[in-house]
Amino acid sequence: MSFKEKGNTPFPEWPIYDKSEISALTDVIKSRNWWGGFPGDQQGENLWKFQEEFAKFQEAKHCIAVCNGTVAIESALMALNIGMGDEVIVSDFTFVASASAVIATNAVPIFCDIDPNTLVMDANKAESLITERTKAIIPVHLGGNPVELDRLLEIAHKNDLYIIEDCAHAHGSRYKGKRVGNWGVAGTFSFQASKVLTSGEGGAILCNSDELADKIYSYIDCGRKKNSYFYAHFSYGTNYRMGEFHAAILRKQLDKFPEQHKLRNESAQYLGNKLNEIEGIKIMKQTPGTEECGYYVYPFVFDPSHFKGITKREFKRKLNKKGIPTDDCYPPLHRLECFKNIELKKGIDYSKANWGGEKSDDINFPIVSDIYSRSVELPHEVLLASKDKLDWIVDNIESLK
Ligand SMILES: Cc1ncc(COP(=O)(O)O)c(C=O)c1O
Repeated sequence: MSFKEKGNTPFPEWPIYDKSEISALTDVIKSRNWWGGFPGDQQGENLWKFQEEFAKFQEAKHCIAVCNGTVAIESALMALNIGMGDEVIVSDFTFVASASAVIATNAVPIFCDIDPNTLVMDANKAESLITERTKAIIPVHLGGNPVELDRLLEIAHKNDLYIIEDCAHAHGSRYKGKRVGNWGVAGTFSFQASKVLTSGEGGAILCNSDELADKIYSYIDCGRKKNSYFYAHFSYGTNYRMGEFHAAILRKQLDKFPEQHKLRNESAQYLGNKLNEIEGIKIMKQTPGTEECGYYVYPFVFDPSHFKGITKREFKRKLNKKGIPTDDCYPPLHRLECFKNIELKKGIDYSKANWGGEKSDDINFPIVSDIYSRSVELPHEVLLASKDKLDWIVDNIESLK
């Protein structure tokens, strides 16, 4: 494990690598097979092995690797034939990609408020947003915390909707005996630089249907079909393939992942117990039924009245000054400039969306607006530090009182 000084305190520097990543990359260079390839033609060894290995780890039947987590969501939507005139319900508390991927397909994202305790999509609220145009729900397992998936599935079945789980924060999360990414029709992942499993950029889609897996594959590889003539293009598709270099790194990172994942879960439990003792701090509560959590980030909410009326900006600044890497959580989607603009994409009617103009006001998204004003997050590498470092974080938060 390598360490970097952040302020006066050593926290693990991310990503963690050793000579196995370096030799894996060297091997790819020397092999001259730099391309992930195409089944039945030049099939890149690392890409096709990584897909199998990641599917196995996540306990899914199929994995289709792509070049990032944004296009992973888009590819799942496209393979499900979601597009113009369709609505897709998305958590309001997420990275812009969860909604911009919907925009890419010409469908309309509808923003859903969160549960104030778990910080993930409120399933009952999602149900209230369903219209005759709704085709899918994209729950985001924020900080690895699973959305109440059994309830959401019940809603989806009742209303004939697809669930596409955005698992960009939730590698390894397990809910009620099943890994996330397997609850809906598809689960999408990101391997971007800050993620708990990374190759700098990268993404994947998991699914358990042979038919859907073929459609997703076809979309991300120019409309091809596996083991067919290379220049036969059967449907509309594009090129979102992952290459051999990224896959080679990911295979080595996946070897390291289980130990890190275990440590993150143990540290989060330890840190949570300590933070719960501080009046005015509320940690993200795990959704009941959560057995393992991906912990891409560790968010918590503070009550300024217990901290001399401090603003979030000051709270964050003071911790960072001490050397505790403290970040902002995502600004809610409804607040983003792009979603205040009803003319967002040429030719698409956004007039029925629950955002745009005054509909984007905070009053319409009360829980997430309040939580955002009082929440910060620690990056996952903090959870790879020793217990005395976690104690030190707790002491510093306490000292802000
Ligand atoms: C919740 C969520 N979904 C999707 C993405 C998009 O992933 P990528 O950056 O690999 O495109 C991210 C990236 O941070 C994310 O946090």
